[in-house]
Amino acid sequence: MAVPLFATSLDAYKPRLAQALAEVVDGGRYVLGPQVEAFEEEFARYIGVRHCVGVGNGTDAITIALRALGVRPGDEVICPSFTFYATVEGAVNAGATPVYCDIDPQTFCLTPDTVRAAMTPRTKAIVAVNLFGNVAPIAELSELGVPVLEDSAQAAGAKLYDARAGALGHAATFSFFPSKNLPCLGDGGAVTTDDDEVAKLARRLRFHGSDDKKTFVEVGYNSRLDEMQAAVLRILLPELDGWNEARRGAAEAYERHDLGEHVELPEPAAGAEHVYHLYVVRHRRADELREVLSAREIGARAYYRVPTHLQPATAIYAPDGRELPGTDEAARTHLALPMGTQLSDDSVREVVQACASGSI
Ligand SMILES: Cc1ncc(COP(=O)(O)O)c(C=O)c1O
Repeated sequence: MAVPLFATSLDAYKPRLAQALAEVVDGGRYVLGPQVEAFEEEFARYIGVRHCVGVGNGTDAITIALRALGVRPGDEVICPSFTFYATVEGAVNAGATPVYCDIDPQTFCLTPDTVRAAMTPRTKAIVAVNLFGNVAPIAELSELGVPVLEDSAQAAGAKLYDARAGALGHAATFSFFPSKNLPCLGDGGAVTTDDDEVAKLARRLRFHGSDDKKTFVEVGYNSRLDEMQAAVLRILLPELDGWNEARRGAAEAYERHDLGEHVELPEPAAGAEHVYHLYVVRHRRADELREVLSAREIGARAYYRVPTHLQPATAIYAPDGRELPGTDEAARTHLALPMGTQLSDDSVREVVQACASGSI
């Protein structure tokens, strides 16, 4: 039985989505209209913060949020290397110099110790990535004395104790790319924060550096969430908790069927309600395991085999003499296995059997 890497489908929602899109077309407001305003309010309430600013995508969200937090050209911003490249790209686009920190290969997240090792007097912000749907230790990171920006692109709906990812740091960013836990039908993103000033600056930056569309007080971006995507997100946001529950159910099924006998299972951080954007295990011969799975038509993929500090565009920021052993280990051993809101017990069993048959 073939098992795709992404076991998620929006088929059941298509009639409602089509209807909502038709209403936007009829309404004639396409940019910064009532749908964006309503989504911003609804998403802020869901996350548990005062402000949400809808932007064009999750990469721009990072650039805009860092600038709104006061990062200026030449300032250092600490970022993990083991993340999607856009985390670091967003910091570079803000004019910052990214300084890579290591991660804990068990949670795939940065830690207070790995961040401390990368801090200098020029550190202006920390980008804490809630990777794969896990949650970084934001409270401890916030005690290090510089603003923490959560990159929550992969963690919509995750919680740390009772608070949502996105409400834990000074500000947070989200991506609503179609594969994300809360998807739209194209590109979309958001910045969330409790800080009135940061929200005001983010709003200004997403519209060319202007508050009133007449006076331009700084050079910003043309990066808005559009009305079509906001209308889609308003239909799908109420489904997010149920979808994440289904993802956690699939993770439990992997454990119940003893996947842990064959690979190292993902580990939710202490107090975290993981949302399994990706179900990422570790195996010392991960590429061979991927081949075994692919021969049985089971989707599996290594996302960051070459981490950001070794990518051609961003290797220039690689630390001099400072090692990133957790990053190297995670990069070498990680492998995403099938996950989604509709992963059946039979599919989980099939994946576990295939991993067992590998015996590598
Ligand atoms: C961790 C992380 N940060 C940032 C982004 C960028 O989001 P977008 O693709 O919406 O620009 C992504 C998207 O995949 C991501 O996974």
